[in-house]
Amino acid sequence: MDYSKFYTPQKTAKTLIYELSIPEPQKVIDICCGSCNLLFAAKKKWNNVNLYGVDISESQSTNEVIYERKDGRQFAIEHPHEFPLVLANPPFDFIKIKKQFPKLFVNEFKDITTSRLEIEMLIANLSLLSQNGVLLIILPSSFVEAETYKKIRQIIANNYYVESIIKLNETTFGASRINCYALIIHNTLKTQYHTKIGCISEDLISYTSNINSETLKKGYWTCDNTTFVTNSLNIKRGNISSACFTSNGQPILHTAKTTNCNWSPQIKYISKDIVPTVFAESGDIIVSRIGKSAGQWCLYKGEKIAISDCLYRIKDLDTSLIKKMEGKKFDRNLKGVATRYITITDFNCWINSL
Ligand SMILES: C[S@@+](CC[C@H](N)C(=O)[O-])C[C@H]1O[C@@H](n2cnc3c(N)ncnc32)[C@H](O)[C@@H]1O
Repeated sequence: MDYSKFYTPQKTAKTLIYELSIPEPQKVIDICCGSCNLLFAAKKKWNNVNLYGVDISESQSTNEVIYERKDGRQFAIEHPHEFPLVLANPPFDFIKIKKQFPKLFVNEFKDITTSRLEIEMLIANLSLLSQNGVLLIILPSSFVEAETYKKIRQIIANNYYVESIIKLNETTFGASRINCYALIIHNTLKTQYHTKIGCISEDLISYTSNINSETLKKGYWTCDNTTFVTNSLNIKRGNISSACFTSNGQPILHTAKTTNCNWSPQIKYISKDIVPTVFAESGDIIVSRIGKSAGQWCLYKGEKIAISDCLYRIKDLDTSLIKKMEGKKFDRNLKGVATRYITITDFNCWINSL
């Protein structure tokens, strides 16, 4: 699928722009402007704002937009800290070589390497922000939820103020069902704050919870990233990433690629110095969170053992859950653009539907 041409629908653009409670900016830019829908929505809200659009292809800009045909990342390198408001729904795609525009990877981003275009665009967009400027950006849900992007989430939470994380409706981009979030990020250093977590429904944004800046700075940007407890379900994600694996040491359960009906996790090893926090015991249910086997599950019957962050562990103390799940397969759509995955909420919703 070509993820580079999913223009932001006018209604969604308007809803998101009206969510920005900032003084009228003098100028606003979108460096992947395409349809210019985000820019036009800004013009509707603030009559006097000057619109700047950049796109690598011919854009649908009108004479309302000061338009330049260029790679948006190059434009960002040439115009650092110039814009009080930056709008973005960048293309979601792989890049041919990592760090295509090395000049973007400076200061807090110097240690980031990525093979994703939207991540380079995110960094480019942040570099355009003037002091106290605001970025509204649409990114794939993997950016907010997946382990792969934890490091860059930590960097952003430590160097910017993340005001809101808003889940877009799955149908925002039509039948393609791309899972995305809109993020509102300020180029302002705030030591302690709460980030609003919400979603768009019927073109209205409703906030359902908050995440404190301490949690955000650790890279956890969703409420369900590590633990989810209801009266009946206690599900927790492992805390050991595959980067810690060694050839021997203490054993740990990790996801396995098999997708047949007898899925079970595989054994890996980590150094004896690492302290895992989540263990599986006999009678627990183990769920694969990510990759080809995302959503596969099994009943664990071995010795107490740590689990990797590719797995969820569910405590089933009175065996009522396993009775409900027996013979059933997780059959919901997987999330993610390149790597497929499920969240705790996805699994919880599936169980509740049984
Ligand atoms: C997903 S569309 C979004 C367009 C617009 N921002 C919107 O919200 O409707 C992405 C746009 O980025 C443009 N694009 C792709 N690669 C680019 C690059 N390297 N630099 C600038 N624009 C690029 C595409 O031509 C396309 O118009």
